[in-house]
Amino acid sequence: MSQLSAIIIGANAGLSQTLAQKLAAEGVRLGLMAADLSSLDPLLQQLPDNTLCSEIDIFDPAQCRQALKDLWQQLEGAQLVIINTAASHHELELPWEADKMVLDVNVTGFTALANGAFALFREQKYGQLAAITSIAGERGGASSAFHASKAFQQNYLQGLRLHAQRLKLPVTVSDLRLGYIDKMQARGSKAWGASLDVVASQILANLKKAKATSYVTRRWRIVSWVGRMLPEFIYNKRKYR
Ligand SMILES: NC(=O)c1ccc[n+]([C@@H]2O[C@H](COP(=O)([O-])OP(=O)(O)OC[C@H]3O[C@@H](n4cnc5c(N)ncnc54)[C@H](OP(=O)(O)O)[C@@H]3O)[C@@H](O)[C@H]2O)c1
Repeated sequence: MSQLSAIIIGANAGLSQTLAQKLAAEGVRLGLMAADLSSLDPLLQQLPDNTLCSEIDIFDPAQCRQALKDLWQQLEGAQLVIINTAASHHELELPWEADKMVLDVNVTGFTALANGAFALFREQKYGQLAAITSIAGERGGASSAFHASKAFQQNYLQGLRLHAQRLKLPVTVSDLRLGYIDKMQARGSKAWGASLDVVASQILANLKKAKATSYVTRRWRIVSWVGRMLPEFIYNKRKYR
């Protein structure tokens, strides 16, 4: 059997790099897409020589889609595409420029890539499209554009899933809803978040089960359920730091 291939978009993110290492350890050939290819050098030293890379500017949807198509052709197709690009901001005044940047990356850029990947899977007639979203998408929050953009992503993925069913295509669409990654855990942080290693392992386990929607880590399913059940008058009184 020929080697399996996967494309990871947003490969500079720590989570993407941990996923890449784990997939490579399972013998999967990788295509990595990132804004800044030079920052992938330390990762590439740990990956097999047949790993391919491609530069993307997520503010340029046409460029992203073409780059994805080119990488796909170089790999001669792929079984899995993971979209892990995201932007957010925490400016209290909610400047339009900052909100627009979040929408450009998380809505327009995301859709350009998800739509492009789905079209490639449709042509190939099978595959798995996965995107890292967030439980933030399930209800509004103080980072309004971020929450709303994650809600858009979740809704769009569900639409693609229905579309695959309508076309009777064995294309799996997976929405991975993250809770909180504690990126400082390796440096001794004791915050209530899982390490990149745990998060990546759970993501890959969920992808293998072809789950439509999964919560990572698992305990965030309970947080999500409680969050969605809270009546408005309590939810709106949440305190933000
Ligand atoms: N961190 C958490 O606790 C948490 C919680 C819930 C959900 N999530 C979700 O999990 C995913 C990963 O989170 P993270 O914190 O690891 O994210 P991150 O480090 O900010 O990574 C986001 C990725 O998006 C890429 N990106 C952003 N703007 C871009 C642009 N203009 N052009 C090309 N690439 C661009 C970044 O590339 P560069 O590095 O090159 O900029 C990076 O690879 C995101 O979808 C996030 O929403 C995270």
